[in-house]
Amino acid sequence: MNADEARILKLRAELRDYNHYYHVLDAPKVPDAEYDRLFRELRNLEELHPELVTSDSPTQRVGSAALFAFSQVRHAVPMLSLGNAFEESELFEFNRRVIEGLDLPAGDLFGGGQSIEYTCEPKLDGLAVSLLYRDGLLVQGATRGDGTTGEDISVNVRTVRNIPLKLNGSGWPAVLEVRGEVFMSKAGFERLNATQMEVGGKTFANPRNAAAGSLRQLDSKITASRPLEFCCYGLGQVSANIADTHIGNLEQLKAWGLPISRELKLANGIDQCLEYYRDIGVRRNDLAYEIDGVVFKVNSLAYQRELGFRAREPRWAIAHKFPAMEELTELLDVEFQVGRTGAVTPVARLKPVKVAGVTVANATLHNMDEVARLGLMIGDTVIIRRAGDVIPQVMQVVLERRPDNARPVHIPEQCPVCGSQVERTQLVKRSKGKETVSEGAVYRCVGRLACAAQLKQAIIHFVSRRAMDIEGLGEKSVEQLVDEGLVSSPADLYTLGFEQIVDLEGFAELSSKNLLEAIEDSKRPTLARFIYALGIPDVGEETAKVLARSLGGLERIMAALPQVLTYLPDIGLEVASEIHAFFEDEHNRTVIAQLLERGLQLQDQGELHPEFAASTSLAGMIAKLDIPSVGPTGAEKLVARLETLDKIIAADGIDLRQALTIKQATAVREFFSVAENAERARAVEAQLREFGMHWGSEKKLVEGLPLAGQTWVLTGSLERMSRDVAKDKLESLGAKVAGSVSAKTHCVVAGPGAGSKLTKANELGLEVLDEDAFIAFLNKQGIEA
Ligand code: IVH
Repeated sequence: MNADEARILKLRAELRDYNHYYHVLDAPKVPDAEYDRLFRELRNLEELHPELVTSDSPTQRVGSAALFAFSQVRHAVPMLSLGNAFEESELFEFNRRVIEGLDLPAGDLFGGGQSIEYTCEPKLDGLAVSLLYRDGLLVQGATRGDGTTGEDISVNVRTVRNIPLKLNGSGWPAVLEVRGEVFMSKAGFERLNATQMEVGGKTFANPRNAAAGSLRQLDSKITASRPLEFCCYGLGQVSANIADTHIGNLEQLKAWGLPISRELKLANGIDQCLEYYRDIGVRRNDLAYEIDGVVFKVNSLAYQRELGFRAREPRWAIAHKFPAMEELTELLDVEFQVGRTGAVTPVARLKPVKVAGVTVANATLHNMDEVARLGLMIGDTVIIRRAGDVIPQVMQVVLERRPDNARPVHIPEQCPVCGSQVERTQLVKRSKGKETVSEGAVYRCVGRLACAAQLKQAIIHFVSRRAMDIEGLGEKSVEQLVDEGLVSSPADLYTLGFEQIVDLEGFAELSSKNLLEAIEDSKRPTLARFIYALGIPDVGEETAKVLARSLGGLERIMAALPQVLTYLPDIGLEVASEIHAFFEDEHNRTVIAQLLERGLQLQDQGELHPEFAASTSLAGMIAKLDIPSVGPTGAEKLVARLETLDKIIAADGIDLRQALTIKQATAVREFFSVAENAERARAVEAQLREFGMHWGSEKKLVEGLPLAGQTWVLTGSLERMSRDVAKDKLESLGAKVAGSVSAKTHCVVAGPGAGSKLTKANELGLEVLDEDAFIAFLNKQGIEA
């Protein structure tokens, strides 16, 4: 056996294996680009040695065998494949073959003298499907399979929402087989993967796999739940001809209700095809779905018939492919970057490779969970994907190419920048009165501002436009300030003098003065900006605003216990714990103190927000303690009976039984018998009071609220919110919510089924709101319903 022959055998075996993974398992092992390369290599070798071509060579067939779980469908007209052009020269070559094949007089070398009319369509990256309509009714759906036999996926195609089950209009041939692509939009794919991730299901490497995996489901309910779409690009068997041109056929299909591409165009001559290719290429990232090229087809059906087929490809059509978005390369190393909040992130260092025209040498790996999910080892061959403007991603490891000396990826024990300890973050969850701590995906350098990497990022964030807005201090200058030891915390910015700045690279006299002025001008930030500028992990602009607006003062924010912070809108225990830990940190406290000493004056500091002040009650607080089986109602009963937290903590089983069930009473006893629980509850209560929260009879702060002094009654059933929620909302506006209607009632909210209370309200001539009016009223008060 000579070398070519051996190579041919090896290529066939490899391609067969890749084919199986791609078509049968919907889980490709290598990117298309790699497959195409190997395929071309095999075809070229077979062209050199025609005597070695065998009928089972991958070059002699399309697609792959049908999955056995579906019943099989024989295609009346085979479902063929398309020839590919990667280079312009191949496209001109195709055009020349068309002209020659039609026996038209050749023009110049490229057939430029003749203008063939072509249709131009995007080449959708999905799954080829055949739909059979009999007398206008969808009777069968099939995959391509090996081109001759596919799988019967009739039930599944019926779940694809833009596939008509019955055609519009009339005049369709009695037998009409349409062919097209089932695909998933980029957005649908992202959504699907996010949900799969949440429920621990299988995620997909790209929209095409997601489409294929979704359509070829034995359980069609799963298919129905997936965001699949169909686009029609041609015909199979038909009992009567429709039009004389390809575009005429497609337009008629469209009139019958079948979706065709919005990008379908006619081109006069191959040059216009090229223009189309370039135009779509520019817009490729903005399209809602992925395409891997465009398809040009001779528009005249008479010409198509004349040209016929070569092996398994039409001579009248070609796919002009775009540069692949996925490529293979080698993972040379994994390095770790330290971000602003100290998160230590693995970054892949790759053997540089061109992906869709851009050289990629690095890719983020997100976190160590992702490294584990990929099963990544240094030395591995990996699939890199660069979709649009998105940062390159490592999609998959090609396991069979793992070298013997591959090394596992370990998170460093010490920060690569400052040498501090690297710790795994913890996730705090509270449920049933217990705090459970689990391991997070993120590792952090504990060095905080002592770590140069974190310090630089912290300062870059601190001076950024939406934070302290210090103009004129770019990343490079920040790096210099830190590297030269001039700044070791954000507070040091306020000690910088002219001499120090003017010595920095890129600074002159005027720019130094301007920067000093900008630093001076930044000294009066709003509280919200200042909180945001501190760069507390997980605290973005919105959370910073919530903290500032609700608590109204830096001191309160700094002192707030995590449980108290969870009273604020959209702050959960995890973020609350981050905030609390940030302000507990000695170093952070020192920096804040220095900032204030160096002249920072926070604006907009004020009172506790009245809505927040009114947002809690002792019962509410007890309900939040997560005592097993004690919810809001149990907590209400407890408070109604025992009145204060101290009494509740001290109560014995008999006292508790007067308000609660045995089960609840036991749970409360058990909960407070743990000293830590009792202490925490007391601390939270004390802080809520200190912050000016009020409950029970203390109504001081209610004054000034829009409904202060008013009594409202809720009756009937509310459909858009529970009565409890409605009550909370009214109370947050200062109203008292009563159980019965009297002349003193200000307003009655009446839902469907309201009875005697509504009658009485009408008799008394009171104001009555239905649910819609009530919600409109709440909205007007700035309360979201
Ligand atoms: S025409 C005989 N048009 O590409 C010609 N195919 O490699 C049959 N595809 O199996 C195909 N968009 O799954 C055609 N506008 C388009 C297409 C398209 C995507 C897929 C199709 C086909 C494969 C051919």
